[in-house]
Amino acid sequence: MIRVTRRYRFSASHRLHAAGLGDAENRELYGKCNSPFGHGHNYEMEVSVRGPLEERSGRAVDPALLDGLVRREVLEAFEHRNLNEEIAAFRTTVPTTENLAREAVRRLKQNWSTVFPAGPRLEKVAIAETSRNAFEVSAHEIE
Ligand code: NI
Repeated sequence: MIRVTRRYRFSASHRLHAAGLGDAENRELYGKCNSPFGHGHNYEMEVSVRGPLEERSGRAVDPALLDGLVRREVLEAFEHRNLNEEIAAFRTTVPTTENLAREAVRRLKQNWSTVFPAGPRLEKVAIAETSRNAFEVSAHEIE
């Protein structure tokens, strides 16, 4: 088995504000990330897949198929969006990068088996929010 990772970029804005908490609690919890008008990030997302080497091509994944799936399911939805306001999942769930990575996995899994009926499998998504932090979600942990 071989693991292949491809890297993508998108820019989006968000505000960390938990719907179930009051304003003061949100300010205390998230600090400047709770600033009312939000702020942006240039996210770097790594998508890792795992599968057998296909003898004919010498590859474990067709990168064009993977790029198309990632573009349709994730990049087109998130690129230059306000995540809180424009992504349905983040109307009720706070758009931390932990939750953003989970949402990316959910979206990729939706049509994964249509695009890759014989493999590879999605293994994980990692999203770096800044040069100092990155968040990884294993695909098998998400429904
Ligand atoms: Ni932020």
